[in-house]
Parts: sequence; C-alpha cells; structure tokens
Amino acid sequence: KSLPAVRIVEVGPRDGLQNIRDSIPTSMKLELIKRLEETGLGTIELTSVVSPRRIPQLADCRDVLGDEGIRRMGGKDLRLPVLVPTAKGLDVAIEYGVKEVAVFISATEGFSKANINCSVEQGIERARDVVSLALKSNTVVRGYVSCIFADPYDGPTQPASVLRCVKELLDAGCYEVSLGDTLGVGSPSNVRSLITFLLDNDIPGEKLAGHFHDTYGQAVANVWEAYKCGLRVFDSSVAGLGGCPFAPGAKGNVATEDLVYMFHNAGISTGVDLPKLVEIGVWISDQLKRPNGSRAGAALAIK
Ligand code: HMG
Ligand code: MG
Repeated sequence: KSLPAVRIVEVGPRDGLQNIRDSIPTSMKLELIKRLEETGLGTIELTSVVSPRRIPQLADCRDVLGDEGIRRMGGKDLRLPVLVPTAKGLDVAIEYGVKEVAVFISATEGFSKANINCSVEQGIERARDVVSLALKSNTVVRGYVSCIFADPYDGPTQPASVLRCVKELLDAGCYEVSLGDTLGVGSPSNVRSLITFLLDNDIPGEKLAGHFHDTYGQAVANVWEAYKCGLRVFDSSVAGLGGCPFAPGAKGNVATEDLVYMFHNAGISTGVDLPKLVEIGVWISDQLKRPNGSRAGAALAIK
C-alpha cells in the first residue's frame, strides 16, 4: 500500500524573492511562475500585496496579478494564493480576480511588531476581519503563524501562544494554517513536540502545514518529522530561496527539489516533475547570480 501523498506549496515567487535587495524584473518573476506551473505543483504563492516601502521587491504585485498568462493559469488543480495582511491588500487581490489569499500573524510580540506593525492580539483581530471579508467574496484563505519556535527579538516561543494563534485562524475560517519556523532554528524534536501538543489540543492534523526555513540545516529533517506526525502539506521554495527582512539572519525556505527528492525516494507522491524543477532551480539561481540553495538540485543538475 502506498504512503499518503503530500501537497507542496511553492512559495518561491513570494517568500523566495521578497528579501532580495536588487530589484528583479517583473518579466523574470512571471517566467518563474509559468515555469513552476509546468512542473505539476498544485499550489504556487504568487506575490504579496503589502506596503511597497516595507517590501520593495514585491511592489510590482499588480503587474504580476494582472498578467494575462497568470490570470488564465488558476483552476481546479492549481491554487495561486497571494499574501494580504490587510483589507487594503485584500481589495487589490479581489480586484485582480484572485481566488485564494493568505493572512499572516506571529505567535510572538517582537516579530509581530517588526513585521506587521501591531501586537499579536491586534494581528489576530486584523486577520479575523480580512478572513471574514474574503469569505464574503468567495475567496478562500490560508493562514500563517510565524515564529513557532523562536522570535528574533523575544527568544523562545510558548507553545500555548502558537496554539492560540492556530485556533484563532481556524475559527476565523482559514482552511489551513501553515506553521512557520521563520528563523529556521527548530529541529525534529521541537517539531514533534509542538505538533503533538497541537494535536493533543484538538487541532486536526489535516488543517496544518509546515513552513520551515533552513538556517540551521534542519529543514528537510523537520519536514520528514512533521510528515511522520501526520502533516501532509509543506511550503518550500525552488532553489531554497527565501527569507524575511524582519527576521535578520534567517536563511531560505527548505528547497522544493530537496523535498521532492526525499518524498519520491520514500515512494510518497508529490505530483511534481523533479527534472523540470531542477532545471528551474538552476535557471533562477543563475539569473539571480546566487549559488543554488538546493543540494539535491545542484547534485542532479551535474549528473
Ligand atoms: P501599517 O500598519 O499601515 O503600518 O501596515 P506600516 O507603517 O508598516 O505601513 C504603512 C504603509 O503601508 C502605508 O503607506 C499604508 O498605506 C501601506 P505609506 O503611508 O507609508 O505610503 N499599506 C499597504 N500598502 C500596500 N498594500 C497593503 C497595505 N496596507 C498598508 N495591503 C502592513 C501594515 C502589514 C501592511 C505593513 O506593515 C507591511 O506591509 N508589512 C510587511 C509585511 C510583510 O510582507 N512581511 C513579509 C511576509 S511575512 C513572512 O515572510 C513570514 C512567512 O513566510 C511565514 C514564516 O516564515 O514565518 C509568511
Ligand atoms: Mg517564510
């Protein structure tokens, strides 16, 4: 009997690019998204509608969302979420025909203030309002909780705070909540204890996703551990791109190529064409003049 399949949420065009200082041409972002679509990925996060002063790299979100090719892409087998922290961002997304958005809050005060300019409590309230407005216009909503293990300013995170945030987002109407190790400091033992705590407190495993940054090289192991705990949805970024300007020192997301390689070797389906993905990782690393952050991608590319 085959093992349960996973769904990968490719966050490269958003998390992957948001922290890169040099401005990337919109045409390159569009090409990245279109190439990713051809790999069979079921979800590609397109961009964010946020303050262009805070995240200058994604200031072209309207050009991305308005592109004819992108507008034609979404469908029953492809979800194309867009990050919107505020009602203002949601309005823009809806104007461009976006069918899925994502809201994000932090389980910790320091990062909440730095990232979205409000307290945890205010973040929850704002997310609740955005979710409610989105659902009224038939837009589904994914949620993120950041700093599940630690905060760059406040230190270790209380699991109870993560639980509270997850509960609030699910009660608000998010169909799934992605657990973000924003700093990439957690290891498998932390992953197991947090997920066990959430499941023991009646959070259904099918409502959770894992979002692991790879600062300490633990992200692939963390995904595997989370899979063994029952999670089936994982966020990752082609070539291991990623990072947040308000989480200094944090590295990229776990590389999509590394996840696909790991899952396929275990006989677990991802629906993703690995050779195609590897080519994209090589191409985008080359375009951005960065070393390829995927170990599997770099190894397979020279084989
Ligand atoms: P704010 O409370 O109004 O305060 O915005 P602000 O001072 O931070 O920003 C104010 C400016 O943003 C004003 O413009 C607003 O009009 C404008 P100004 O007067 O300065 O010209 N503004 C907007 N502009 C465009 N679209 C909007 C919008 N809303 C207000 N939707 C806000 C709050 C959250 C919008 C702001 O703080 C912000 O944009 N922060 C950036 C947050 C961000 O994108 N962070 C990175 C993504 S989160 C992440 O990476 C973590 C994740 O990957 C999971 C994980 O790893 O843990 C998801
Ligand atoms: Mg992230």
